[in-house]
Amino acid sequence: MSTLDNSRNFVISLGGSFLFSDYNHLIDLKKIISHSRRKFAIVVGGGKLARDYIEFGKEIGINDTGLHRIGIRATEINAYIISIFLKAKLYVGDPRKITIDSKVLTTGGYKPGWTTDVGAAYAAVAAKSPVVFNISKEKGVYDKDPSKFKDAKMLDKMDFKDLYKLTGGKRMPGMNYIFDPEAARICERNKINVVVTNDLNDIIRYPNKIRGTLIS
Ligand code: UTP
Repeated sequence: MSTLDNSRNFVISLGGSFLFSDYNHLIDLKKIISHSRRKFAIVVGGGKLARDYIEFGKEIGINDTGLHRIGIRATEINAYIISIFLKAKLYVGDPRKITIDSKVLTTGGYKPGWTTDVGAAYAAVAAKSPVVFNISKEKGVYDKDPSKFKDAKMLDKMDFKDLYKLTGGKRMPGMNYIFDPEAARICERNKINVVVTNDLNDIIRYPNKIRGTLIS
């Protein structure tokens, strides 16, 4: 495959919470995709649906693997509804084997213990996307928790090492990260950039003048 072919594909890790917070986001996403010459794989997160179901599963004593599977089911239904709206192909399967054989495809989670960020990182490797757009409610990556520290500063650029310093700790079902460090490692190994943003237009701006954080 030539370099040009490689750069035709973009992978998006779309946070469930972002997507369902405002219907206009979906309309914007549809426009951006249709005006772009690229092909897209969108890995859709579980959002509130996943968290609520995982919480309920915990209350009734379901084990961690079971809770992860419940999370995956939530991502699947989110990917399904978005596929209908975008008239996209729905891909169900291993993101490591993804080929973007239509203008846009959507998919959910795949393996218990992963997150959709991990799926998106693997999809980017498989589809030779130079970047993963991590679109969520967060404007970007901050040097410290902006909900706790008033003087927290958003970083325009950072490297993967700095990200790992901010995202240590144990992985739990339904856990929320800025960008999953396991996914970051896959991207780093494969020289794939990550853009953390809440601005869908960063997909068009990339690689210049993005408003979120560029991790490379
Ligand atoms: P998400 O990827 O949606 O996690 O998966 P998130 O970080 O909460 O994403 P947002 O909020 O939508 O952006 C939800 C849960 O589903 C399980 C995990 O337990 C995860 O925390 N999951 C998801 C898996 O076990 N495997 C997957 O491949 C995907």
